Amino acid sequence: MDDEGIVVDAIPDDCRLVYVTPSHQFPLGVPMSMARRVALIDCARRHDAAILEDDYDTEFRYTGRPLEPLRSLDSSGRVLYIGSFSKVLLPGLRLGFLVAPPGLRPALAKAKYLTDWHSASLTQAALAEFMDSGEFARHIRRTRREYAARREVVCRVVARELPDLRLIPSSAGLHVSAFSATPVRPMVRAARRAGVRIYTLGDFTGVRDALDGFVFGFGAIPRDRIEPGQRELRTFADSDRALT
Ligand SMILES: Cc1ncc(COP(=O)(O)O)c(C=O)c1O
Repeated sequence: MDDEGIVVDAIPDDCRLVYVTPSHQFPLGVPMSMARRVALIDCARRHDAAILEDDYDTEFRYTGRPLEPLRSLDSSGRVLYIGSFSKVLLPGLRLGFLVAPPGLRPALAKAKYLTDWHSASLTQAALAEFMDSGEFARHIRRTRREYAARREVVCRVVARELPDLRLIPSSAGLHVSAFSATPVRPMVRAARRAGVRIYTLGDFTGVRDALDGFVFGFGAIPRDRIEPGQRELRTFADSDRALT
């Protein structure tokens, strides 16, 4: 990864499948640039590979124009586009969708059948009704406003209270991430002593201390609890400095 998204030149030649989150890279948050999107599709074509495009939270876009999904840019039929209702509605629904190239559909339908037969029919029917009635679109507009306000608080308070952190630019989704100029482990330990769990970038990379930084999710926290929570983070940072 760099600040334009996946580094296409680093993809090994024998790669057959690339999984990406171009709208809002997880966990860093950066959107994939148009040049990288085009290069990734070209790379997949050269290596006869498929691309899994996970567009998990793009309904919540706060700034800028949405970039074309890989699925729309690709003319060679090698992009599988996945969407989820977990962020836009609720994770407990367990509903999502996959837009697949026609040649893959029979195999995917069989795989789904073998996995769990089918997703819950009643829930799907209720969701279809929710969409047809216009309530789904209204829900997205309403929640986007709320999440934009929460995101603004997170970014403002990080910039003010946590000078060691540098927010990573992003324009969508339900989390923002930040790189830390100092190692995160001591602060995580101080927080844990106080019964607070903090998500670090390392938690999501598989290599615990590969990156120093934090992931701030704001999907489930009321707006007025964000600032006190982040001020508490400041006390963990300070208490750690006092100990060292
Ligand atoms: C990167 C990413 N993709 C997809 C999802 C949604 O997964 P699911 O639809 O299985 O709930 C999440 C949820 O947190 C996510 O972080």
